[in-house]
Amino acid sequence: MTSTALRSRAWKLLEMVTTPLLPSDYLDLVSPLRAGADLRGRIEAVHPETDDAATIVIRPGRGWRGHTAGQYVRIGVDVDGVRLWRAYSLTSPTNRQDGRVTITVKAIPDGKVSNHLVRRARPGTLIQLDQATGDFVLPETTPAKVLYLTAGSGITPVMGMLRDVEFDDVVMVHCAPRPQDVIFRDELHDLVADRKLRLTEVHTDTDGMLEIARLGELVPDWAERETWACGPAGLLDAAEKHWSEHGVPERLHTERFRTGIAVAGDVGGGEVTFSTTGKTVDADGATPLLDVGEEAGVLMPSGCRMGICFGCVTPLRAGAVRDLRTGEITEAEPGVLIQTCVSAAAGPCDIER
Ligand SMILES: Cc1cc2nc3c(=O)[nH]c(=O)nc-3n(C[C@H](O)[C@H](O)[C@H](O)COP(=O)(O)OP(=O)(O)OC[C@H]3O[C@@H](n4cnc5c(N)ncnc54)[C@H](O)[C@@H]3O)c2cc1C
Ligand code: FES
Repeated sequence: MTSTALRSRAWKLLEMVTTPLLPSDYLDLVSPLRAGADLRGRIEAVHPETDDAATIVIRPGRGWRGHTAGQYVRIGVDVDGVRLWRAYSLTSPTNRQDGRVTITVKAIPDGKVSNHLVRRARPGTLIQLDQATGDFVLPETTPAKVLYLTAGSGITPVMGMLRDVEFDDVVMVHCAPRPQDVIFRDELHDLVADRKLRLTEVHTDTDGMLEIARLGELVPDWAERETWACGPAGLLDAAEKHWSEHGVPERLHTERFRTGIAVAGDVGGGEVTFSTTGKTVDADGATPLLDVGEEAGVLMPSGCRMGICFGCVTPLRAGAVRDLRTGEITEAEPGVLIQTCVSAAAGPCDIER
């Protein structure tokens, strides 16, 4: 008998003695980060950055394939007994010697996962991980002149890049309410002191919001720079318009942490049935079905919550839903899948959850 056949027979025997659990379930208990297990990570440290932001140091399991600076990772965290998935940009350099990675999270008012991670996460906690993904990254050849335009927690993917690459000429314009709200402020100022970065901080509490039309006063050659921008929708919308109006839209790369909701106002919702769980609730036509399901206590898979990762796709069994980004209606047909994070009820509907 070959060694593969022997191994498979031994595994079958193990399955018989460990039933109803599987051998892998026992292995998960003793070695959750081993190769072959669902990808997990262990929180090894939590470092406060500002009053409401913290860096979480994670040891990824054996299956982790690494990342490119600027990418994000989806993590699954148990909050009050419910597994919730969110996306976070990786802030560690790609060549960190100890193999650990970091994310940096800003707690937002009423935010379930961000507050849990910043204020309650403890070293030793296991989380679920996906592989890193995302195209908010530098090209293979680092551009000669770079501009980073960031606000609030939007600094995180950019910090991942600044820690990874030495630039010839890089300028950053970063907005935060006050100096003490600037995440990574000391490290940024060290880079400035070493002449590795030119930085303008805009403190919006005293300076007011950054007017993109006046960006040229801060960075006269902005249009010549390859630019990466990450921050609230208002800033990114204004930047996209500005770059387009000046005929250089291809020089601007943006990363959004929240989806742009185009459908607003009273567009009518309907009764939503989660047929697997056996729950029915009323929903308006503007709330994502992901939120409707979570609110009703239905186990809803999710990831980025903004229509990019497809971590939330679910069969639509009956009825119709509206895509909140475009207003487009999708009606149930055999095999039709919807992204619950960007779809709302458009009349009565049945979601297979
Ligand atoms: C690609 C990607 C990368 C990301 N990287 C980071 C990162 O590096 N650091 C980081 O802190 N966050 C990051 N985020 C945002 C993060 O995924 C969560 O959306 C955020 O932490 C809020 O989750 P929550 O569970 O705390 O809030 P929820 O409980 O989901 O929401 C609470 C309330 O806040 C609103 N809300 C949800 N998300 C946001 C938001 N981003 N800003 C303002 N209001 C919001 C909701 O509409 C709701 O009213 C990223 C998102 C994406 C898509
Ligand atoms: S949660 Fe990422 S696409 Fe819906």
